[in-house]
Amino acid sequence: MYTYKCNLFREGTSVGAIDPKKDWSWNFTDMLGYEDPYFKEMMRLYLAIYSCCVGYNDHEGGNVSAHTCHLFGSALSDPYLSFAAGMNGLAGPLHGLANQEVLVWVTKLREEIGDNVPPEKLREYIWDTLNKGQVVPGYGHAVLRKTDPRYWVQREFAQKHLPNDPLFKLVSELFEVIPDVLTELGKVKNPWPNVDAHSGVLLQYYGMKEMNYYTVVFGVSRSLGCMASMIWDRAFGLPIERPKSFDTPGYKKLVKAS
Ligand code: MLT
Repeated sequence: MYTYKCNLFREGTSVGAIDPKKDWSWNFTDMLGYEDPYFKEMMRLYLAIYSCCVGYNDHEGGNVSAHTCHLFGSALSDPYLSFAAGMNGLAGPLHGLANQEVLVWVTKLREEIGDNVPPEKLREYIWDTLNKGQVVPGYGHAVLRKTDPRYWVQREFAQKHLPNDPLFKLVSELFEVIPDVLTELGKVKNPWPNVDAHSGVLLQYYGMKEMNYYTVVFGVSRSLGCMASMIWDRAFGLPIERPKSFDTPGYKKLVKAS
């Protein structure tokens, strides 16, 4: 039977009351049962950088979740329904699930070659991943062509608060090696790390080990950006969205077929 408890993260934990005098991060982490002020501070950073707010994000709102939310909203669907549609897109491994994919890959790397390995060994492991036809998760971006600024701010936080954490050290070592390998590969437009290459390290350090919850945390953050965008969409009265499509003669023309 479906019970109330099924909706709770960490079964039995009360969601608690919202304290309107405290900020978003404080209330969210409090609901999750975290008291550590450094975790609350880290979540403050996390919620801001993943939100994708209009005018805040440096690489447009064309990502799958924000764009899907905009698309559904353009039909004047309810904001909750539009956001839920965006979240379905966020669940994909090339989008919101990527921070989990990074941790899975890094954990496997540690199991297979251990910690404190020389850069040469890391290089070999990265080439092995690529030679198996897999991608190195957390690297590259559809729009950015240099290290994601959201990666840098997380790195700065880690340097200050968890400089000796083994996972942080490993992720930093990978940052020294992966861009060179991807550049050598030749096919990659952006060999630099994105936001997802780092976020799992911070969540794990503060004890949020439940990886399958990471996309939810990402979604909590993105709700702010998606809803802010929707307000602009409605304020400007933007029309229902429809992509351009081709008919058969159009495709023939495209491939110069007679
Ligand atoms: C995001 O913030 O959603 C990611 O950087 C993905 C993207 O912008 O395409």
